Amino acid sequence: MTVDFDADRISADSLTSRRDYLRIAVTVSGGLAVGSVAIAGGLFHRHGDGTAPAKLVAERLAPGESVTFTYPGDADRATAIRLRDGTLVAYSSVCTHLACAVLWRADRGTEGELLCPCHEGVFDARTGAVTAGPPPRPLPKVLLEERADGIYAIGTQRSGQA
Ligand code: FES
Repeated sequence: MTVDFDADRISADSLTSRRDYLRIAVTVSGGLAVGSVAIAGGLFHRHGDGTAPAKLVAERLAPGESVTFTYPGDADRATAIRLRDGTLVAYSSVCTHLACAVLWRADRGTEGELLCPCHEGVFDARTGAVTAGPPPRPLPKVLLEERADGIYAIGTQRSGQA
């Protein structure tokens, strides 16, 4: 009798374990599905597309200098840099990997680099292309225009757009 009782208990425990396993599998699968839909739907922040009025970002930038600003929206962080040869560039400061803040490091590389400290992502200062680390795409560009009274942000380009 005692042996039958133990066998029934073991059998009931196995059923519970199977149910728990299925519940975990369904929960994890559902979470992955919801996460995939959120990413595909663009729910996570990325640099803003679209248009905004031209915005003054600096009166001037000398070679080697940079300035941070937001454009086109208040959450769209960006960095403008005057490279040592005088070329003016600007990129989103939102990393294309997991949206950490990208920092300008004038002391790295031959003409400086844009570094994401979260996972050591590195972007080329002249093109915004990924040169190291996990970011999957180049940094989106912010288009600049030099006018008599300063440097203006006038538009954005999506990652990889020429
Ligand atoms: S968030 Fe920038 S490298 Fe991961």
